[in-house]
Amino acid sequence: MARHLITSAIPYINGIKHLGNLVGSQLPADLFARYLRARGHEVLFLCATDEHGTPAELAAAKAGQPVAEYCREMHAVQAEIAKGFRLSFDHFGRSSSPQNHALTQHFAGVLADRGLIREVSETQMYSPTDGRYLPDRYIEGTCPNCGFESARGDQCDNCTKQLDPVDLINPHSTVSGATDLEMRDTKHLYLRQSQMRDELQAWIDTKTDWPVLTTSIAKKWLNDGDGLQDRGITRDLDWGVPVKRGDQDWPGMEGKVFYVWFDAPIEYIACAQEWVDAGKGTDWARWWRTDKGADDVCYTQFMGKDNVPFHTLSFPVTILGSGEPWKLVDYIKSFNYLNYEGGQFSTSRGRGVFMDQALDILPADYWRWWLLSHAPESSDAEFTWENFQSSVNKDLADVLGNFASRVTKFCRSKFGEAVPEGGAWGPHERQLINDIQNGFDAYQTLMDGIEVRKSAAALREMWADGNQYLQEVAPWTTIKTDPEAAAMQIRLALNLIRFYAIISAPFIPDASAELLAAMKAENAGWPDDVESALTALPEGHAFDVPEVTFRKITDAEREDWQARFSGTR
Ligand code: 2FM
Ligand code: ZN
Repeated sequence: MARHLITSAIPYINGIKHLGNLVGSQLPADLFARYLRARGHEVLFLCATDEHGTPAELAAAKAGQPVAEYCREMHAVQAEIAKGFRLSFDHFGRSSSPQNHALTQHFAGVLADRGLIREVSETQMYSPTDGRYLPDRYIEGTCPNCGFESARGDQCDNCTKQLDPVDLINPHSTVSGATDLEMRDTKHLYLRQSQMRDELQAWIDTKTDWPVLTTSIAKKWLNDGDGLQDRGITRDLDWGVPVKRGDQDWPGMEGKVFYVWFDAPIEYIACAQEWVDAGKGTDWARWWRTDKGADDVCYTQFMGKDNVPFHTLSFPVTILGSGEPWKLVDYIKSFNYLNYEGGQFSTSRGRGVFMDQALDILPADYWRWWLLSHAPESSDAEFTWENFQSSVNKDLADVLGNFASRVTKFCRSKFGEAVPEGGAWGPHERQLINDIQNGFDAYQTLMDGIEVRKSAAALREMWADGNQYLQEVAPWTTIKTDPEAAAMQIRLALNLIRFYAIISAPFIPDASAELLAAMKAENAGWPDDVESALTALPEGHAFDVPEVTFRKITDAEREDWQARFSGTR
């Protein structure tokens, strides 16, 4: 048994996330957490809302609410939706928590003491029209790197380059559209990332087992030097972590807050403290401090590719630069983007399916299955309603759901609602067990390696093996000539239902729980080997016929949803 710390990139507080956001971090992190727990490991799975920065301020202003109130409400909304998707966080924290304020100020103080923060007098975009300095996100313009016309002041969404607003060509205010921006003098803090270049390079070089997507982005920024330019970590905003040096005031920094990307990853640590303070845990340090036992922890982070530079460079600078014994990430699993019906998801145009809408139309498992089995790992992926309908109908309804309902109903009608007695395994059964054992070995190896899509395929393959077996041995025919053999076949099939329920739970937790309840095997643990798992339900063990576990999506529904989420509303 090992200890696993798992964090998902923390979603911005503003607005409800779409399915592309979900599959890029929270959902695969949940899959991994559930799998590791099922295998008996000790897991701490953390996520939170990312509440600072201009998007939060802008959204609150738009909602006509004070930003603190807006964030409190939206956190509750996001927490509820996360529950709906069965995201099994041990704690869903808030980057605006007092714990994160204190810890962020602590890191800033320590980094300053170690000479890794410098004060910079600089000129900054001031908008006379808006009457304020404009933070990064309030400025848009053309990316100097790739020419994308709607690059934000902090990052280009097209080429992922981290930017400073002054780099933008033809900048304008997103508050008012004003282009009469002028530069004024002000003072800011910079994190001296450049000083840590060699240390970071050496660290990344040890990560030979990381996904190529992760290391290629990290190395790109390291090797062209760009990602390691010193980086401004303060902003002119009201909402955020006030700039302090530990608990001391920082002369000249009055009225400024830390940059959201400085405090957001620190929330991964603060969230563990929140977890303890909420009474859910007793010791956060044994997860986060290598001097307090966290050396034994395996720490995995999940995120979309646009987040990779911050997690491979900026946050490690905070951790390593502090010189304190904080736990560093062991493995970074990153994802490409999920597109929607030939384009992008668009929040502003209401294009695509958002998390709340998804749950309004179908239970979480349908979405979990499709998203995970199509996770954008090796390249961008695309959601289409046709594909969604056909995957759900085939994999979930025809293969898994149909297997469970056919077997249990047949048993009820011919033998009653208890595992039938008699008969012994023959070559067909030996073959099936052999096939499933191979599939199960592959599945576990893939899940250990967080190969999400391939794990789903291996699982589906095992479901299909069961169906194929049933087709071949045809107990509905066997029973006419050899009732004992039919009983044995059905006994094996009932045990398969139980086995499928256990091993599918990380993907489809609700259906798995329903199936286990129907098989009256709620407390079943992860199987050691297939043969013994397939004899776990003994002869005479009572069961219920499950309610329809998965229903099919009709063409009419598909067309309706296609129109409804097209973004034309
Ligand atoms: O891209 C995003 O949604 C960010 N809110 C992710 C932050 S992850 C971390 F740094 F906390
Ligand atoms: Zn660009």
